[in-house]
Amino acid sequence: MSSTTVRHPKGPPAEVSDRAAVPFVWAFFDSSVGAKITVALTGLGLTAFTIFHMIGNLKVFSGPEAINAYAHFLKHELGLLLWIARAGLLAIFLLHIALAVRLTLRSKGARPVGYAYPGHVRATVTSRTMIWSGAVVGLFVLFHLAHFTLCWVTYAEVAPGRYVSYLELKDPKEPLYQDVYSMVVVGFTTPWLAALYVVAQVALFLHLLHGVQSSFQTLGLKNGRFRTAIRWFGFAVAATVFLGNVGIVAGVWFGLYPVAPQ
Ligand code: HEM
Repeated sequence: MSSTTVRHPKGPPAEVSDRAAVPFVWAFFDSSVGAKITVALTGLGLTAFTIFHMIGNLKVFSGPEAINAYAHFLKHELGLLLWIARAGLLAIFLLHIALAVRLTLRSKGARPVGYAYPGHVRATVTSRTMIWSGAVVGLFVLFHLAHFTLCWVTYAEVAPGRYVSYLELKDPKEPLYQDVYSMVVVGFTTPWLAALYVVAQVALFLHLLHGVQSSFQTLGLKNGRFRTAIRWFGFAVAATVFLGNVGIVAGVWFGLYPVAPQ
């Protein structure tokens, strides 16, 4: 086994095994700066996904054909690319959560007793509650996958007194594929489900409101004349995602969709 000689200024040379040397990537994630940069970059990646996902979902306003064709394209025409994208999304989702939780625990461990003068520390409510808004969004994503991707809904009321499972909701044009339009409309007709989605969107709004500008700050871009612009950009992203997603839920309640589900 190879070894390296380490010289300490106040001690004799010591032999250190190379096994103790940590790979660069691991050392990078383990350092606070590396973890913060990774949380910032993965956070911006997840934000980009959320924006594109919302834009795609807004096709529900154009009717069943538009949203179903879009869903079929993503799910059945991309082949291997879909699985590469899913694996990438899962990896950055897990990295973001793991490193953000560890940074929070470390900073709490470093200061177990709160500041004597909390008013002197410039931290907003949204920044101090990032871990909680993030936890709500994370739990929402798990629920959402069970709801729309895995179709674990067995009891959806498609007409007064007529219940079916989501897997039975097939596209009238392509009976082999799911009728995503009906899944969305039937789903949000259920009051508790609509309420749960809206609450999750409030948590997502708060998380993005602080998260987007904080990511730019970590990357050293929120300085000088860009400071105000980045604060506004963070607000614009959070508000757009909130209005788009809540708009889809509200659309069901206000009867905005052109055709009723079968
Ligand atoms: C009202 C808001 C939303 C609607 C109507 C909606 C709708 C959908 C639908 C229909 C699918 C399944 C697509 C399919 O399998 O054919 C899906 C998948 C997904 N959604 Fe959403 N979504 C919403 C908000 C969100 C938010 C806020 C997030 C994340 C923060 C999110 C994350 C995901 C993920 C990760 C998937 C899985 C993608 C995949 O299968 O690879 N969604 N969504």
